[in-house]
Amino acid sequence: MSRHTDGGATIALRSDDGSLIEIYDVTGGRNASFVDAMCDLHCRSFPEHIFAADGIRFDARENPLREGIIVHQWLLTVNGHPTAYSLADTNLVRRTVPIHFLAVAEASRTITVEGERLGTWFLRDSLRQYLDDTGEQGLGACAETPDYKLSIFLPNGWRLLPVTYLEPIHGSTWRTNGLDTREVALIWLPPPGVQVESIPSIEPTVMGPAAASFLIDMYDLDGTIPWVAALCGATLGGPRPNRQQSRRISL
Ligand SMILES: CC(C)(COP(=O)(O)OP(=O)(O)OC[C@H]1O[C@@H](n2cnc3c(N)ncnc32)[C@H](O)[C@@H]1OP(=O)(O)O)[C@@H](O)C(=O)NCCC(=O)NCCS
Repeated sequence: MSRHTDGGATIALRSDDGSLIEIYDVTGGRNASFVDAMCDLHCRSFPEHIFAADGIRFDARENPLREGIIVHQWLLTVNGHPTAYSLADTNLVRRTVPIHFLAVAEASRTITVEGERLGTWFLRDSLRQYLDDTGEQGLGACAETPDYKLSIFLPNGWRLLPVTYLEPIHGSTWRTNGLDTREVALIWLPPPGVQVESIPSIEPTVMGPAAASFLIDMYDLDGTIPWVAALCGATLGGPRPNRQQSRRISL
């Protein structure tokens, strides 16, 4: 939670060409002037998920501390221009970090920070904070992605989980728009220092919590739906967080 402030940039540094890079927390009413820009970046980057802009507006208003979940919405500016954003949850119950969306405006992707492309740097920097919040025993980060985007992730240490995974096409708006599904990849970024090859049982351990952090906790699907139950496995029998429920504490 070290980056949650009462407004203003939580990070400010220079890119390799001297541009000013700033990152703003857009939750809990902070930095509300960036909400439209974040929604605009989102709709341009993910035309199939325009419906999620309503969720961005909701999370921008609400306390990011929910029952068992910390909601992250960060906007990155370059010389004051909204250029990139990142949406993720630190899920304290599943001990994982589902990444919902991350994008950099196309014209700015060649900018480098500390020698890395802006997108790679931003994802790595964001994850450091999100994973810190899960504590030392965290299971790492996870994401849903269509196969054609695997080339964004796999060169950066992410692994394809060996499971036939479904996502609801209309995300958490499935109640009004229908529960159509499509097959996508469920991918996993192990926590730093974990040698997956030396722990053969670790991937099955991660699959249930990773799936539940999206299907149950983000989309609010019912665990009695057979394909949801199959993907979440034994995780369903345990405690669950409540993303809709803000904790009544002051920031
Ligand atoms: C994710 C992102 C920030 C990464 O930026 P980056 O580090 O500069 O990397 P690139 O944009 O060069 O992409 C890396 C690879 O993924 C591919 N890729 C990027 N966006 C893609 C897309 N929408 N569809 C298919 N492939 C894509 C690139 O072609 C590239 O592949 P290559 O190395 O074989 O040429 C940037 O690609 C982006 O904003 N994409 C749109 C949003 C998105 O898809 N986010 C990821 C899912 S959360």
